Amino acid sequence: MLAAMVGCQACDDGLIYEQEHAPEHTGYTAKLTAHVTGADTWPDYYDVALATFGESDYSRSQTTVHPDTEGNVTLLLYNIGNDVRTVEFCVTNTLRRRVLTFASADVSSAVGDTIYLDAGEVDASMYAAIQHDVFNNTCAQCHGLSTTAAAGLYLTEGQSHGSLVNQPATSAEGTRVIPGNAEESVLHKVIRPGNELGLGFSHEGMITSSITLRLIDEWINAGAKE
Ligand code: HEC
Repeated sequence: MLAAMVGCQACDDGLIYEQEHAPEHTGYTAKLTAHVTGADTWPDYYDVALATFGESDYSRSQTTVHPDTEGNVTLLLYNIGNDVRTVEFCVTNTLRRRVLTFASADVSSAVGDTIYLDAGEVDASMYAAIQHDVFNNTCAQCHGLSTTAAAGLYLTEGQSHGSLVNQPATSAEGTRVIPGNAEESVLHKVIRPGNELGLGFSHEGMITSSITLRLIDEWINAGAKE
């Protein structure tokens, strides 16, 4: 039964050679190579994974990335169908929705039936992900990249952690980030809709994705580690 299916698929795709090399698999195979640190900093709600995506933000298939003791990763994902557009080294949530992506390859870049994704050195920690995905793109321009940092808060690379964690806020009462307590952290209150603290400059609408808002909360509640 399986052999018949494989044979048929191979004929349809014109990939006759596949029968010889990998008779147990159909479609494309993705191969991730990388050197990864920080993958173990993510709480259970998340999966650091090699995943395939079509039109939507929900992965079609995925497999968890487990670096060896040296941080090396060589990981294969089989049976990738024609409905897939990209193969991504990424983080998904329990609904398999994409949270953020470290590296991506188009299926159209396949060599034969293999899509190679060489991600190089990746700091895959939660904190690094937030720095790259949120602080660098949306915040640092006002918080430290210019000559003055708004509210004395630096959200630039290398400075954001020390400027946030257990530091008193300057434009409102409270502590910027209280490890383990997102709800009470000024950072959480500032980026949520509603300008709860009544800041002179409202951050409303800066982060519109509930996925990103939750990511920051999860990081704080997981201990706000660097
Ligand atoms: C266009 C400029 C601008 C951008 C972009 C910006 N901020 Fe701000 N931010 C400010 C200003 C101005 C204040 C001070 C407001 C006040 O004093 O009432 C502030 C205050 C804050 C505070 C309170 C700090 C304290 O100690 O009181 C936090 C937290 C904060 N911003 C986080 C962020 C984050 C996270 C982002 C990115 C999502 C961001 N900001 C993007 C201008 C900006």
